[in-house]
Amino acid sequence: MRTVHTLKELRAILASYRQQGKRIGLVPTMGNLHEGHLALVEKARQAADVVVTSIFVNPMQFGANEDLDSYPRTLQDDQDKLEAAGNTLVFAPSANEVYPNGLARHTKITVPEVSEGHCGATRPGHFEGVATVVTMLFNMVQPDVAVFGEKDFQQLAVIRKLVADLVMPVEIIGAPTVRDADGLAKSSRNGYLSAEERRLAPVLHQTMTAIGQRLTQGETDHAGLEEEARQGLMSAGFRPDYITIVNSQTLKPARPEDTELTILVAAFLGTTRLIDNLSVMRQIPT
Ligand code: PAF
Repeated sequence: MRTVHTLKELRAILASYRQQGKRIGLVPTMGNLHEGHLALVEKARQAADVVVTSIFVNPMQFGANEDLDSYPRTLQDDQDKLEAAGNTLVFAPSANEVYPNGLARHTKITVPEVSEGHCGATRPGHFEGVATVVTMLFNMVQPDVAVFGEKDFQQLAVIRKLVADLVMPVEIIGAPTVRDADGLAKSSRNGYLSAEERRLAPVLHQTMTAIGQRLTQGETDHAGLEEEARQGLMSAGFRPDYITIVNSQTLKPARPEDTELTILVAAFLGTTRLIDNLSVMRQIPT
């Protein structure tokens, strides 16, 4: 496995793979890799001959008071994990390589509607930063296929719309969330949790599962379920950001007649913001 840091090196290597007729898969990441990321690499391996994993902590998607500076940078460890996972090439550019003229003067991509609400509301500019860097990574790597985690449900919806609206010739694959045995979704930010917060963290998944069961059974009082969940999370020591039941396709608040539903949750434990989601099918009585 090779690691390159510049676009020039990346393009030279990829050109030779392309000449050999190889199908190229891309796994965009911000590093600090865990089993969730390695599952994305595995999916990419199944869909492509060559897997490129990008590692870039994208400053454009962080707000002013967020964890850009403290975000863990663990390149050597990430490379070891990727090598063992059968990844082909690591692209780890510097911020200067990606944004040579700085962030303020850089073109930005806005994906309307699905970017609005939920994380888009509490992290203004976040999805603009994601859509911009993902577009650039697609232009740099020109992959046939790219794999993203379903844990970032809204992000995946934003990327699917970006690709559809701009007619990008790349297939998007969503990979299921990988969880610890107690249900906590794997996330690079789990490392910020204290031992006590880590003990409490699975309540997030338990809360979604409890709501999910009631939705599956046909319950339609979404506001009531959301409020119950909010109270439950607060009693358990969380500071909920949002907990919303949405239509899985539009990400708009679910209507009683909707059958494909997703529960979207973001909540703070101490200073750590955790996000998660659960999709369910509602039985509509006939
Ligand atoms: O999901 C992430 O790690 C990031 O948002 C992504 C897609 C790599 C863009 O920076």
